Amino acid sequence: MNVTVFGVGYVGLVQAVVLADVGHNVCCIDVDEKKIEALKKGELPIFEPGLSELVLNNLQRKRIDFTTDALKGVEHAEIQFIAVGTPPDEDGSADLKYVLEVAGTIANHMSKGKIVINKSTVPVGTADRVRAHIASILKKRNIDIPFDVASNPEFLKEGSALEDCMRPERIIVGTDSDLVEEKIRELYEPFSRNRDKIMIMDVRSAEFTKYTANCMLATKISFMNEMANLAELLGVDIEQVRRGIGSDSRIGYQFIYPGCGYGGSCFPKDVQALERSAKEIGYNAKILRAVESVNYKQKEKLFEHISSFYKKNIKGKTFAVWGLAFKPNTDDMREASSRVLIESLWKAGAKIQAYDPEAMEEAQRLYGTRDDFTLMGTKEAATHGADALVIVTEWKSFRVPDFEKLHEELRDHVIFDGRNLYDPLRVESVGLAYYGIGRGRSININI
Ligand SMILES: NC(=O)c1ccc[n+]([C@@H]2O[C@H](COP(=O)([O-])OP(=O)(O)OC[C@H]3O[C@@H](n4cnc5c(N)ncnc54)[C@H](O)[C@@H]3O)[C@@H](O)[C@H]2O)c1
Repeated sequence: MNVTVFGVGYVGLVQAVVLADVGHNVCCIDVDEKKIEALKKGELPIFEPGLSELVLNNLQRKRIDFTTDALKGVEHAEIQFIAVGTPPDEDGSADLKYVLEVAGTIANHMSKGKIVINKSTVPVGTADRVRAHIASILKKRNIDIPFDVASNPEFLKEGSALEDCMRPERIIVGTDSDLVEEKIRELYEPFSRNRDKIMIMDVRSAEFTKYTANCMLATKISFMNEMANLAELLGVDIEQVRRGIGSDSRIGYQFIYPGCGYGGSCFPKDVQALERSAKEIGYNAKILRAVESVNYKQKEKLFEHISSFYKKNIKGKTFAVWGLAFKPNTDDMREASSRVLIESLWKAGAKIQAYDPEAMEEAQRLYGTRDDFTLMGTKEAATHGADALVIVTEWKSFRVPDFEKLHEELRDHVIFDGRNLYDPLRVESVGLAYYGIGRGRSININI
Protein backbone atom coordinates (compact mmCIF):
# COMPACT_ATOMS: atom_id res chain seq x y z
CA MET A 1 0.00 0.00 0.00
CA ASN A 2 1.07 3.62 -0.41
CA VAL A 3 1.41 5.48 2.86
CA THR A 4 2.41 9.03 3.75
CA VAL A 5 3.82 9.96 7.15
CA PHE A 6 3.98 13.58 8.30
CA GLY A 7 6.72 14.13 10.89
CA VAL A 8 9.87 12.03 10.99
CA GLY A 9 10.70 12.19 14.70
CA TYR A 10 10.99 9.15 16.98
CA VAL A 11 7.47 7.99 16.17
CA GLY A 12 7.07 8.94 12.50
CA LEU A 13 10.47 7.71 11.37
CA VAL A 14 10.28 4.37 13.17
CA GLN A 15 6.72 3.68 12.06
CA ALA A 16 7.52 4.71 8.49
CA VAL A 17 10.53 2.44 8.14
CA VAL A 18 8.77 -0.50 9.76
CA LEU A 19 5.87 -0.11 7.29
CA ALA A 20 8.37 0.13 4.41
CA ASP A 21 10.18 -2.95 5.63
CA VAL A 22 7.08 -5.13 5.26
CA GLY A 23 6.63 -3.89 1.70
CA HIS A 24 4.52 -0.72 1.81
CA ASN A 25 5.67 2.34 -0.18
CA VAL A 26 6.21 5.11 2.32
CA CYS A 27 6.66 8.81 1.68
CA CYS A 28 7.91 10.79 4.69
CA ILE A 29 7.34 14.54 4.97
CA ASP A 30 8.97 16.88 7.44
CA VAL A 31 9.34 20.65 7.62
CA ASP A 32 12.91 20.29 8.90
CA GLU A 33 15.00 20.53 5.72
CA LYS A 34 18.26 19.54 7.40
CA LYS A 35 16.68 16.40 8.80
CA ILE A 36 15.24 15.44 5.42
CA GLU A 37 18.52 16.07 3.57
CA ALA A 38 20.39 13.91 6.08
CA LEU A 39 17.77 11.14 5.94
CA LYS A 40 17.95 11.01 2.15
CA LYS A 41 21.60 10.06 2.60
CA GLY A 42 20.70 7.54 5.26
CA GLU A 43 21.98 9.75 8.11
CA LEU A 44 19.73 9.58 11.14
CA PRO A 45 18.79 12.49 13.40
CA ILE A 46 18.26 10.17 16.39
CA PHE A 47 19.81 7.06 17.87
CA GLU A 48 17.58 4.02 18.11
CA PRO A 49 19.01 0.49 18.09
CA GLY A 50 18.80 -1.10 14.62
CA LEU A 51 17.12 1.91 13.01
CA SER A 52 20.03 3.10 10.90
CA GLU A 53 20.45 -0.26 9.13
CA LEU A 54 16.74 -0.54 8.45
CA VAL A 55 16.50 2.97 6.99
CA LEU A 56 19.50 2.35 4.71
CA ASN A 57 18.13 -0.98 3.60
CA ASN A 58 14.72 0.44 2.69
CA LEU A 59 16.24 3.50 1.01
CA GLN A 60 18.23 1.15 -1.21
CA ARG A 61 15.10 -0.82 -2.04
CA LYS A 62 13.32 2.47 -2.80
CA ARG A 63 10.47 1.65 -0.44
CA ILE A 64 10.92 4.81 1.62
CA ASP A 65 11.36 8.36 0.47
CA PHE A 66 12.05 11.57 2.40
CA THR A 67 10.91 15.00 1.25
CA THR A 68 9.78 18.43 2.41
CA ASP A 69 7.39 18.59 -0.54
CA ALA A 70 4.00 18.31 1.15
CA LEU A 71 2.07 18.20 -2.13
CA LYS A 72 4.06 15.14 -3.17
CA GLY A 73 3.22 13.51 0.16
CA VAL A 74 -0.48 14.27 -0.06
CA GLU A 75 -0.68 12.97 -3.63
CA HIS A 76 1.35 9.84 -2.77
CA ALA A 77 -1.25 8.00 -0.73
CA GLU A 78 -4.80 7.67 0.45
CA ILE A 79 -3.49 6.95 3.96
CA GLN A 80 -1.97 10.03 5.59
CA PHE A 81 -0.40 9.59 9.01
CA ILE A 82 0.10 12.53 11.33
CA ALA A 83 3.07 11.88 13.64
CA VAL A 84 4.21 15.36 14.61
CA GLY A 85 4.99 16.61 18.10
CA THR A 86 2.36 17.67 20.63
CA PRO A 87 4.53 19.59 23.09
CA PRO A 88 3.13 21.20 26.22
CA ASP A 89 1.55 24.60 25.79
CA GLU A 90 2.38 27.37 28.28
CA ASP A 91 -0.20 26.01 30.73
CA GLY A 92 0.85 22.36 30.27
CA SER A 93 -1.99 21.31 27.97
CA ALA A 94 -1.11 19.64 24.66
CA ASP A 95 -0.27 22.13 21.93
CA LEU A 96 -2.06 20.96 18.80
CA LYS A 97 -0.65 23.54 16.42
CA TYR A 98 1.57 21.08 14.53
CA VAL A 99 -1.22 18.51 14.23
CA LEU A 100 -3.63 21.12 12.89
CA GLU A 101 -0.94 22.50 10.59
CA VAL A 102 -0.57 19.07 8.97
CA ALA A 103 -4.34 18.68 8.75
CA GLY A 104 -4.42 22.05 6.98
CA THR A 105 -1.66 21.01 4.58
CA ILE A 106 -3.52 17.83 3.66
CA ALA A 107 -6.77 19.76 3.16
CA ASN A 108 -5.09 22.37 1.00
CA HIS A 109 -3.44 19.84 -1.30
CA MET A 110 -5.89 16.95 -1.52
CA SER A 111 -7.68 16.28 -4.77
CA LYS A 112 -8.88 12.76 -3.93
CA GLY A 113 -10.34 11.02 -0.88
CA LYS A 114 -8.03 10.61 2.14
CA ILE A 115 -7.89 8.66 5.36
CA VAL A 116 -6.10 10.82 7.91
CA ILE A 117 -4.74 8.74 10.78
CA ASN A 118 -3.48 10.51 13.84
CA LYS A 119 -0.54 8.86 15.61
CA SER A 120 0.46 11.80 17.77
CA THR A 121 -0.62 11.71 21.40
CA VAL A 122 -3.57 14.07 21.53
CA PRO A 123 -6.41 14.96 23.91
CA VAL A 124 -9.85 13.47 23.50
CA GLY A 125 -11.75 15.35 20.82
CA THR A 126 -8.73 16.12 18.63
CA ALA A 127 -9.94 13.93 15.75
CA ASP A 128 -13.13 16.02 15.72
CA ARG A 129 -11.04 19.20 15.56
CA VAL A 130 -8.91 17.77 12.73
CA ARG A 131 -12.07 16.75 10.89
CA ALA A 132 -13.61 20.21 11.31
CA HIS A 133 -10.39 21.91 10.22
CA ILE A 134 -10.12 19.86 7.02
CA ALA A 135 -13.83 20.36 6.26
CA SER A 136 -13.57 24.13 6.65
CA ILE A 137 -10.59 24.33 4.27
CA LEU A 138 -12.32 22.13 1.69
CA LYS A 139 -15.35 24.38 1.98
CA LYS A 140 -13.17 27.44 1.35
CA ARG A 141 -11.67 25.66 -1.64
CA ASN A 142 -15.24 25.07 -2.71
CA ILE A 143 -14.73 21.37 -3.32
CA ASP A 144 -16.35 18.31 -1.91
CA ILE A 145 -13.88 15.45 -1.39
CA PRO A 146 -14.63 12.55 0.97
CA PHE A 147 -12.21 12.04 3.86
CA ASP A 148 -12.13 10.37 7.24
CA VAL A 149 -10.11 10.90 10.40
CA ALA A 150 -9.06 7.97 12.57
CA SER A 151 -7.00 7.65 15.73
CA ASN A 152 -4.11 5.20 15.98
CA PRO A 153 -2.03 6.14 19.03
CA GLU A 154 1.55 4.92 19.21
CA PHE A 155 2.87 2.85 22.11
CA LEU A 156 6.52 2.42 21.12
CA LYS A 157 9.21 2.93 23.75
CA GLU A 158 12.35 4.84 22.84
CA GLY A 159 15.26 2.43 23.12
CA SER A 160 13.22 -0.51 21.81
CA ALA A 161 11.11 1.39 19.30
CA LEU A 162 11.79 -0.88 16.32
CA GLU A 163 10.98 -4.04 18.20
CA ASP A 164 7.82 -2.42 19.61
CA CYS A 165 6.63 -1.43 16.13
CA MET A 166 7.59 -4.69 14.46
CA ARG A 167 6.03 -6.82 17.19
CA PRO A 168 3.39 -4.60 18.80
CA GLU A 169 1.47 -5.91 21.80
CA ARG A 170 -1.66 -4.20 20.47
CA ILE A 171 -2.64 -1.82 17.69
CA ILE A 172 -5.32 0.54 18.89
CA VAL A 173 -7.53 1.96 16.15
CA GLY A 174 -10.26 4.48 16.75
CA THR A 175 -12.78 4.65 13.92
CA ASP A 176 -16.48 4.23 13.30
CA SER A 177 -16.07 3.54 9.60
CA ASP A 178 -16.00 -0.03 8.26
CA LEU A 179 -14.08 1.10 5.20
CA VAL A 180 -11.36 2.77 7.29
CA GLU A 181 -11.17 -0.30 9.53
CA GLU A 182 -10.70 -2.51 6.49
CA LYS A 183 -7.88 -0.31 5.12
CA ILE A 184 -6.08 -0.13 8.47
CA ARG A 185 -6.40 -3.90 8.92
CA GLU A 186 -4.82 -4.40 5.51
CA LEU A 187 -2.00 -1.98 6.38
CA TYR A 188 -1.15 -3.67 9.68
CA GLU A 189 -1.87 -7.24 8.62
CA PRO A 190 1.87 -8.15 8.53
CA PHE A 191 2.16 -7.24 12.23
CA SER A 192 -0.81 -9.27 13.31
CA ARG A 193 0.17 -12.68 12.02
CA ASN A 194 0.39 -14.74 15.19
CA ARG A 195 -2.81 -13.24 16.64
CA ASP A 196 -5.10 -10.33 15.93
CA LYS A 197 -3.41 -7.36 17.56
CA ILE A 198 -5.87 -4.82 16.22
CA MET A 199 -8.38 -3.42 18.67
CA ILE A 200 -11.08 -1.33 17.08
CA MET A 201 -12.86 1.20 19.24
CA ASP A 202 -14.49 4.59 18.92
CA VAL A 203 -12.17 7.49 18.20
CA ARG A 204 -12.44 9.23 21.58
CA SER A 205 -11.74 6.01 23.48
CA ALA A 206 -8.66 5.38 21.33
CA GLU A 207 -7.35 8.87 22.05
CA PHE A 208 -7.94 8.35 25.77
CA THR A 209 -6.33 4.88 25.82
CA LYS A 210 -2.94 6.42 25.07
CA TYR A 211 -3.14 8.96 27.90
CA THR A 212 -4.46 6.37 30.32
CA ALA A 213 -1.58 3.99 29.53
CA ASN A 214 1.12 6.63 29.98
CA CYS A 215 -0.45 8.02 33.12
CA MET A 216 -0.77 4.54 34.62
CA LEU A 217 2.93 3.84 33.98
CA ALA A 218 3.98 7.21 35.36
CA THR A 219 1.80 6.55 38.42
CA LYS A 220 3.60 3.25 39.07
CA ILE A 221 6.95 5.04 38.98
CA SER A 222 5.92 7.94 41.20
CA PHE A 223 4.21 5.59 43.65
CA MET A 224 7.39 3.53 43.96
CA ASN A 225 9.48 6.67 44.37
CA GLU A 226 7.22 7.79 47.18
CA MET A 227 7.73 4.40 48.85
CA ALA A 228 11.51 4.78 48.33
CA ASN A 229 11.48 8.15 50.05
CA LEU A 230 9.61 6.63 52.98
CA ALA A 231 12.02 3.68 53.01
CA GLU A 232 14.91 6.10 53.36
CA LEU A 233 13.34 7.60 56.47
CA LEU A 234 12.28 4.27 57.92
CA GLY A 235 15.59 2.45 57.52
CA VAL A 236 14.10 0.10 54.92
CA ASP A 237 15.84 -1.12 51.74
CA ILE A 238 13.38 -0.42 48.92
CA GLU A 239 15.15 -2.89 46.63
CA GLN A 240 14.16 -5.76 48.90
CA VAL A 241 10.63 -4.37 49.01
CA ARG A 242 10.58 -4.09 45.22
CA ARG A 243 11.42 -7.75 44.86
CA GLY A 244 8.86 -8.61 47.51
CA ILE A 245 5.97 -6.84 45.82
CA GLY A 246 7.02 -7.54 42.22
CA SER A 247 6.56 -11.24 42.83
CA ASP A 248 2.84 -10.58 43.28
CA SER A 249 1.41 -11.21 39.81
CA ARG A 250 -1.19 -8.51 40.37
CA ILE A 251 1.64 -5.99 40.71
CA GLY A 252 4.46 -7.41 38.57
CA TYR A 253 8.08 -6.29 38.27
CA GLN A 254 7.70 -3.74 35.50
CA PHE A 255 7.82 -0.02 36.17
CA ILE A 256 8.41 -0.36 39.90
CA TYR A 257 12.07 0.59 39.88
CA PRO A 258 12.71 3.42 42.31
CA GLY A 259 15.00 6.11 40.94
CA CYS A 260 15.72 9.76 40.34
CA GLY A 261 12.50 10.39 38.41
CA TYR A 262 11.07 9.79 34.96
CA GLY A 263 11.79 12.03 31.98
CA GLY A 264 11.49 11.86 28.22
CA SER A 265 9.14 13.44 25.77
CA CYS A 266 6.04 11.53 26.88
CA PHE A 267 5.33 10.83 30.56
CA PRO A 268 5.95 14.34 31.91
CA LYS A 269 3.97 16.09 29.21
CA ASP A 270 1.17 13.51 29.00
CA VAL A 271 0.49 13.46 32.75
CA GLN A 272 0.47 17.24 32.71
CA ALA A 273 -1.74 17.45 29.63
CA LEU A 274 -4.34 15.05 31.01
CA GLU A 275 -4.39 16.88 34.31
CA ARG A 276 -4.98 20.17 32.47
CA SER A 277 -7.69 18.65 30.24
CA ALA A 278 -9.42 17.33 33.35
CA LYS A 279 -9.32 20.80 34.87
CA GLU A 280 -10.85 22.31 31.74
CA ILE A 281 -13.88 20.08 32.12
CA GLY A 282 -14.18 20.82 35.82
CA TYR A 283 -12.55 17.68 37.21
CA ASN A 284 -9.81 17.82 39.81
CA ALA A 285 -7.44 14.94 38.87
CA LYS A 286 -5.75 14.55 42.25
CA ILE A 287 -3.75 11.43 41.43
CA LEU A 288 -2.30 12.96 38.27
CA ARG A 289 -1.28 16.08 40.16
CA ALA A 290 0.42 13.96 42.81
CA VAL A 291 2.21 11.84 40.19
CA GLU A 292 3.55 14.99 38.60
CA SER A 293 4.65 16.66 41.81
CA VAL A 294 6.30 13.51 43.22
CA ASN A 295 8.28 13.20 40.01
CA TYR A 296 9.26 16.85 40.04
CA LYS A 297 10.68 16.43 43.56
CA GLN A 298 12.28 13.11 42.71
CA LYS A 299 14.45 14.71 40.07
CA GLU A 300 15.99 16.80 42.86
CA LYS A 301 16.74 13.73 44.96
CA LEU A 302 20.30 13.13 43.76
CA PHE A 303 21.24 16.73 44.38
CA GLU A 304 19.66 16.57 47.85
CA HIS A 305 21.75 13.49 48.66
CA ILE A 306 24.90 15.13 47.38
CA SER A 307 24.17 18.38 49.17
CA SER A 308 23.49 16.56 52.40
CA PHE A 309 26.64 14.45 52.12
CA TYR A 310 28.80 17.51 51.53
CA LYS A 311 26.92 19.60 54.09
CA LYS A 312 26.18 22.01 51.23
CA ASN A 313 29.90 22.61 50.52
CA ILE A 314 29.81 21.62 46.87
CA LYS A 315 31.64 24.59 45.40
CA GLY A 316 34.80 23.55 43.56
CA LYS A 317 33.94 19.82 43.59
CA THR A 318 34.09 17.79 40.38
CA PHE A 319 31.39 15.21 39.76
CA ALA A 320 31.63 12.35 37.31
CA VAL A 321 28.15 11.90 35.83
CA TRP A 322 27.36 8.57 34.19
CA GLY A 323 24.30 8.85 31.98
CA LEU A 324 22.72 11.89 30.33
CA ALA A 325 19.89 10.37 28.27
CA PHE A 326 16.53 10.16 30.00
CA LYS A 327 16.77 6.37 29.80
CA PRO A 328 19.14 3.79 28.28
CA ASN A 329 19.35 3.01 24.55
CA THR A 330 18.39 6.48 23.42
CA ASP A 331 20.14 9.81 22.92
CA ASP A 332 17.01 11.71 23.96
CA MET A 333 17.59 14.19 26.80
CA ARG A 334 14.14 15.76 26.81
CA GLU A 335 13.08 16.25 30.46
CA ALA A 336 16.00 14.04 31.53
CA SER A 337 16.78 13.83 35.24
CA SER A 338 20.44 14.46 34.34
CA ARG A 339 19.56 18.01 33.35
CA VAL A 340 18.02 18.84 36.73
CA LEU A 341 21.04 17.38 38.51
CA ILE A 342 23.66 19.04 36.32
CA GLU A 343 22.00 22.43 36.48
CA SER A 344 21.71 22.21 40.30
CA LEU A 345 25.37 21.20 40.61
CA TRP A 346 26.42 24.13 38.43
CA LYS A 347 24.38 26.52 40.55
CA ALA A 348 26.19 25.18 43.61
CA GLY A 349 29.56 25.85 41.96
CA ALA A 350 30.53 22.30 40.95
CA LYS A 351 32.12 21.02 37.74
CA ILE A 352 30.86 18.08 35.70
CA GLN A 353 32.75 15.39 33.81
CA ALA A 354 30.02 13.51 31.96
CA TYR A 355 29.80 10.37 29.92
CA ASP A 356 26.87 8.79 28.07
CA PRO A 357 27.15 6.04 25.44
CA GLU A 358 24.82 7.88 23.02
CA ALA A 359 23.72 11.31 24.26
CA MET A 360 27.03 13.22 24.14
CA GLU A 361 26.17 15.10 20.95
CA GLU A 362 22.79 16.02 22.33
CA ALA A 363 24.39 17.26 25.57
CA GLN A 364 26.82 19.33 23.52
CA ARG A 365 23.94 20.76 21.53
CA LEU A 366 22.01 21.63 24.70
CA TYR A 367 24.81 23.07 26.81
CA GLY A 368 27.50 24.11 24.33
CA THR A 369 31.03 24.62 25.53
CA ARG A 370 31.56 25.73 29.11
CA ASP A 371 34.38 25.50 31.64
CA ASP A 372 32.33 23.56 34.16
CA PHE A 373 31.18 20.86 31.71
CA THR A 374 33.46 18.33 30.04
CA LEU A 375 32.20 15.47 27.96
CA MET A 376 34.52 12.50 28.40
CA GLY A 377 35.14 9.74 25.88
CA THR A 378 34.63 6.82 28.29
CA LYS A 379 33.05 6.19 31.67
CA GLU A 380 36.53 5.61 33.11
CA ALA A 381 37.76 8.96 31.81
CA ALA A 382 34.78 10.65 33.46
CA THR A 383 35.80 9.42 36.92
CA HIS A 384 39.46 10.34 36.46
CA GLY A 385 40.22 13.27 38.74
CA ALA A 386 36.61 13.48 40.00
CA ASP A 387 35.60 13.79 43.64
CA ALA A 388 32.46 11.67 43.40
CA LEU A 389 30.47 9.59 40.92
CA VAL A 390 26.78 10.12 40.20
CA ILE A 391 24.77 7.60 38.19
CA VAL A 392 21.75 9.03 36.45
CA THR A 393 20.91 6.60 33.61
CA GLU A 394 20.89 2.83 33.95
CA TRP A 395 22.92 1.94 30.84
CA LYS A 396 23.97 -1.72 30.81
CA SER A 397 27.63 -0.75 30.50
CA PHE A 398 27.47 0.87 33.97
CA ARG A 399 26.31 -2.28 35.72
CA VAL A 400 29.62 -3.90 36.60
CA PRO A 401 32.27 -1.23 37.14
CA ASP A 402 35.69 -1.88 38.63
CA PHE A 403 34.94 -0.74 42.19
CA GLU A 404 38.56 -1.00 43.32
CA LYS A 405 39.58 1.33 40.51
CA LEU A 406 36.72 3.68 41.36
CA HIS A 407 37.99 3.81 44.94
CA GLU A 408 41.40 4.86 43.63
CA GLU A 409 39.96 7.46 41.26
CA LEU A 410 37.26 9.18 43.32
CA ARG A 411 38.87 11.61 45.73
CA ASP A 412 35.95 11.60 48.17
CA HIS A 413 35.31 7.85 47.80
CA VAL A 414 31.58 8.15 47.25
CA ILE A 415 28.96 7.03 44.72
CA PHE A 416 25.49 8.54 44.42
CA ASP A 417 23.36 6.09 42.47
CA GLY A 418 20.11 7.43 41.04
CA ARG A 419 19.13 4.04 39.61
CA ASN A 420 20.07 1.58 42.38
CA LEU A 421 22.42 -0.36 40.12
CA TYR A 422 24.66 -1.77 42.82
CA ASP A 423 24.64 -3.85 45.93
CA PRO A 424 25.56 -1.41 48.72
CA LEU A 425 27.59 -4.05 50.56
CA ARG A 426 29.70 -4.78 47.48
CA VAL A 427 30.43 -1.08 46.93
CA GLU A 428 31.18 -0.48 50.59
CA SER A 429 33.48 -3.50 50.75
CA VAL A 430 36.10 -1.53 48.81
CA GLY A 431 35.81 1.48 51.09
CA LEU A 432 33.44 3.57 48.97
CA ALA A 433 30.40 5.25 50.51
CA TYR A 434 27.22 4.44 48.59
CA TYR A 435 23.92 6.30 48.42
CA GLY A 436 21.14 4.89 46.31
CA ILE A 437 17.46 5.80 46.26
CA GLY A 438 15.51 4.48 49.24
CA ARG A 439 18.22 2.16 50.49
CA GLY A 440 17.45 2.93 54.13
CA ARG A 441 20.72 4.67 54.91
CA SER A 442 21.31 7.94 56.65
CA ILE A 443 22.88 10.45 54.33
CA ASN A 444 23.96 12.86 57.09
CA ILE A 445 27.56 11.73 57.10
CA ASN A 446 30.33 14.16 56.38
CA ILE A 447 33.64 13.15 54.84
N1 LIG B 1 8.85 9.67 21.46
C1 LIG B 1 8.12 8.67 21.94
O1 LIG B 1 8.62 7.77 22.58
C2 LIG B 1 6.63 8.63 21.67
C3 LIG B 1 5.94 7.42 21.89
C4 LIG B 1 4.58 7.39 21.62
C5 LIG B 1 3.91 8.52 21.20
N2 LIG B 1 4.62 9.68 21.04
C6 LIG B 1 3.87 10.85 20.55
O2 LIG B 1 4.08 10.95 19.14
C7 LIG B 1 4.16 12.32 18.75
C8 LIG B 1 5.48 12.59 18.05
O3 LIG B 1 6.51 12.40 19.00
P1 LIG B 1 8.06 12.34 18.59
O4 LIG B 1 8.81 12.02 19.81
O5 LIG B 1 8.20 11.49 17.38
O6 LIG B 1 8.29 13.88 18.18
P2 LIG B 1 9.58 14.55 17.53
O7 LIG B 1 9.66 15.91 18.12
O8 LIG B 1 10.75 13.63 17.66
O9 LIG B 1 9.23 14.65 15.99
C9 LIG B 1 8.22 15.45 15.45
C10 LIG B 1 8.58 15.76 14.01
O10 LIG B 1 7.49 16.43 13.40
C11 LIG B 1 8.03 17.41 12.50
N3 LIG B 1 7.01 18.41 12.15
C12 LIG B 1 6.52 19.44 12.87
N4 LIG B 1 5.60 20.11 12.17
C13 LIG B 1 5.48 19.49 10.97
C14 LIG B 1 4.67 19.71 9.83
N5 LIG B 1 3.80 20.70 9.77
N6 LIG B 1 4.82 18.87 8.79
C15 LIG B 1 5.71 17.86 8.82
N7 LIG B 1 6.48 17.61 9.89
C16 LIG B 1 6.37 18.40 10.95
C17 LIG B 1 9.20 17.98 13.27
O11 LIG B 1 10.10 18.68 12.44
C18 LIG B 1 9.79 16.70 13.87
O12 LIG B 1 10.74 16.12 12.99
C19 LIG B 1 3.91 13.14 20.01
O13 LIG B 1 2.56 13.42 20.11
C20 LIG B 1 4.33 12.19 21.10
O14 LIG B 1 3.69 12.45 22.33
C21 LIG B 1 5.96 9.76 21.25
